Amino acid sequence: MARITAICQDAEVQRFTRVPSPYTEEDARSFVALAAAGVADATGLHLVVTDAATDLVLGAVGIAIDRRDASGEIGYWVAPEARRRGVATQGCRTLLAHAFEVLGLGYVALWAAADNPASNAVARRLGCSHEGMARRAMLLGPTGDWSAPRGDANLWGLRPGELA
Ligand SMILES: CC(C)(COP(=O)(O)OP(=O)(O)OC[C@H]1O[C@@H](n2cnc3c(N)ncnc32)[C@H](O)[C@@H]1OP(=O)(O)O)[C@@H](O)C(=O)NCCC(=O)NCCS
Repeated sequence: MARITAICQDAEVQRFTRVPSPYTEEDARSFVALAAAGVADATGLHLVVTDAATDLVLGAVGIAIDRRDASGEIGYWVAPEARRRGVATQGCRTLLAHAFEVLGLGYVALWAAADNPASNAVARRLGCSHEGMARRAMLLGPTGDWSAPRGDANLWGLRPGELA
């Protein structure tokens, strides 16, 4: 829990994801409980990515599942010191392959702030199609801060057979 809590203090994680702010160990416990519940009722698949040699948590990738449409929305974060080593790309690839081939999802969406080059690069790397841009759709600040600046958001999408 301490490791997840530490990573979620990062300013970029706070700015670009929906993690609670401030982020406490209780929030990390809730995240793990949410992950377990998602597996149990098939509403989500949230995983941590670890270092194969040390088991250190490097990041997290997850899909919230919409059972009505057999679709999902993917999200991810990576520890600052583990970035630009393919952690997000490889974690998302594994998760998406499972989502399409085992869970049977027909579509996965990925929303990335236009101001977030790293996340948009991950989307391109995965083979996602750019499907539109929602203007001033995202608050770019810690969760709950309605005074944060608003930014444009890119919608990326992926279907079975399109994963790169
Ligand atoms: C976005 C994030 C998860 C990327 O994780 P990562 O493990 O560093 O990404 P990868 O190493 O898999 O890189 C994938 C691609 O993005 C590119 N990339 C990574 N960081 C980048 C940056 N800061 N600027 C430009 N491109 C970047 C890489 O070069 C790579 O592209 P390539 O294969 O064509 O060279 C990480 O920066 C992060 O946690 N950011 C804060 C949280 C966040 O933004 N989450 C996503 C919300 S939508």
